Amino acid sequence: TAARVVVVGSFNVDHVWTVAALPRPGETLSGQYHTGPGGKGFNQATAAVRAGAATTFVCALGEDLGGQLARALATADGLDLREHSSQAPTGTAGIYVDHDGRNSIVIGPGANADLPVDFVQSQRDVIHGAHVLLAQLESPLASIETAFAIAREGGVRTMLNPAPADARVPASLLALSDVITPNESEFCAQLERHVGERVDASIVATQGDDTLHAWCRRLLPHGTVVVTLGAAGCFVSHAENALHRDAQTHYRVPGAKVQPQDTTGAGDAFNGALAASWALRPEAAFADHLHYANRYAALSTESAGAAASMPREVDVRKRFS
Ligand code: RIB
Ligand code: NA
Repeated sequence: TAARVVVVGSFNVDHVWTVAALPRPGETLSGQYHTGPGGKGFNQATAAVRAGAATTFVCALGEDLGGQLARALATADGLDLREHSSQAPTGTAGIYVDHDGRNSIVIGPGANADLPVDFVQSQRDVIHGAHVLLAQLESPLASIETAFAIAREGGVRTMLNPAPADARVPASLLALSDVITPNESEFCAQLERHVGERVDASIVATQGDDTLHAWCRRLLPHGTVVVTLGAAGCFVSHAENALHRDAQTHYRVPGAKVQPQDTTGAGDAFNGALAASWALRPEAAFADHLHYANRYAALSTESAGAAASMPREVDVRKRFS
């Protein structure tokens, strides 16, 4: 089947320690350890394919055990892997999670930093065959921007998840994005950078909808901004165009009620599911896609791990029927 979603992004081997409190300088702690597949790109691609969309994942992997893991998992999920083989080691992430669910993450980009522009250009046909292109910011900006430019030229919808928050997003990349999906701190980071508006991440969730909408319109005048609010769901703000098929320009969609165990990758679950739903049902109201993505992400928090915790379409249907 033709790919409906193309994800360009990172693959990491996640090393996760659950600790009583996050370590301080000079401190040695012990905690329960597990390892598993991660990386925002791979997590989102896994979510998209498990949500039922034929999905291609464009990435860079090392010639090592991490690369072999990525290949084996892609095969198991029916994910179409387009891999640039790098001399650098496969990406890694060290993650500490405390008992309140807060985390500290250190990324070793490795091969992810080595995704070449010309490799992305070689994927032109698969991008043009998609409905939605989705990317994050753990890969080189020039390669992401190349993918977005190819998508635009082919009339393919573009979704940018501007994560992590400290990544620089050039205005030229925003200009190529139909939808952006920051969380609260990523939203504040981009608002400060591109609009010159300084706000505290903690007030985003409590801000009035009209104020949020006004900020979103200044940040992405031509497109849709979805601010994800964790357990509270999301806020969406549309430009006046025909892409979204919603009656309202801005509104909130509440999160689904679950018993969270591990929120690692919950944002990735949301993004992958949103892209899949939008690609599979382009005629549906955007609100329906957001509703589905909220449920999908909520369910992913009920099991451990990042990519490993992405639910399957049948589980989502069963759980929320
Ligand atoms: O979003 C969660 C992901 O961020 C983890 O899987 C880790 O690899 C980092 O990329
Ligand atoms: Na999870």
